[in-house]
Amino acid sequence: MTCTVVVGGFFGDEGKGKIISYLAMKDNPSIVVRGGAGPNAGHTVKDGDRTYKIRMLPSGFLNKKSKVMIGPGVVINPDILLKEINDFDVSNRAFVDRNCGVIEQTHLTEDSKGRLKDTIGSTGSGTGPANAERAMRTLKLAKDFESLSSYLEDVPTVVNNALDSKENVLVEGTQGTHLSLWHGTYPYVTSKDVTASAICSDIGLGPKKVDEVMVIFKSFVTRVGTGPMENELTPEETSKKGWDEVGTVTGRQRRAAEFDFNLARKAIMLNSATQIAITKLDVLFPDCANKISFDSLNTEAKSFIKKIEENLNVPVTLIGTGPNVNDVIDIRK
Ligand code: IMP
Ligand code: MG
Repeated sequence: MTCTVVVGGFFGDEGKGKIISYLAMKDNPSIVVRGGAGPNAGHTVKDGDRTYKIRMLPSGFLNKKSKVMIGPGVVINPDILLKEINDFDVSNRAFVDRNCGVIEQTHLTEDSKGRLKDTIGSTGSGTGPANAERAMRTLKLAKDFESLSSYLEDVPTVVNNALDSKENVLVEGTQGTHLSLWHGTYPYVTSKDVTASAICSDIGLGPKKVDEVMVIFKSFVTRVGTGPMENELTPEETSKKGWDEVGTVTGRQRRAAEFDFNLARKAIMLNSATQIAITKLDVLFPDCANKISFDSLNTEAKSFIKKIEENLNVPVTLIGTGPNVNDVIDIRK
């Protein structure tokens, strides 16, 4: 009977996909519902030998009992969505809100050239131009598309009804706090607010319905695209630390820096975090790989976690120790 909202605390790519799939398996939500911008998001989920790359559906789809939904604040690309519904075999439990905006070829074209691509480093997914059209009130909506008709739903009503019936609902954010259009490093940001309040608004959830807000930080900071990044490492330093990463959507090399407490503190404030998840601890401390108990961590890793809790004043409740869904230390009460 919990409504948990999960959001990224840095610049996206904090490992939300993996944490959300863990929570979906563990907490058995009746619904996993996505807010956030659009298919500019890219989540990676690893279950045993299978690796899933997801851009539209919620990453909680691994739990076959959960409905997967997309709220009206998200813009969707029908080609990507329908392919994921097919590839992940979820056609009987996937739903999009009738009022989701739809990305068309014009948006893709506009997003792949000029200032958005060159200066902002946009993902080219058409998300920004579609959101601009939504603000102009000319964007077409999901209900205008025959190909989507069997997946249409009134997502806010279904989600609120589930909570009224005391079911668990898992709310999935995308991007990261510092890519927020309002609170991030403007203009090097995405085309929407992506903090917890905005994610709730995207799916039609009022502020009093939320029980837990989990903010996810990776053990180090990465950023794709342009924009400021304090204490950025050179590509050589990044490789030396073993922090090389490549973007899920764009295939671009991610920029990297050490864990940034100032960014983290602001993310805790903006999202009213009640819990913190730390991912990729095994990348900082290789001997922590695949550990599932806090006690089994080495001293340095334990003090890294303690330092985060002391600095941010919020408990660390989940720790990711590897790419697989179950590579998690779960210290929730
Ligand atoms: P746009 O949202 O595609 O316009 O991209 C704007 C900026 O946000 C670029 O720097 C992108 O790399 C970044 N961005 C957008 N979505 C994500 C995401 O899901 N993860 C990481 N960076 C993102
Ligand atoms: Mg990503």
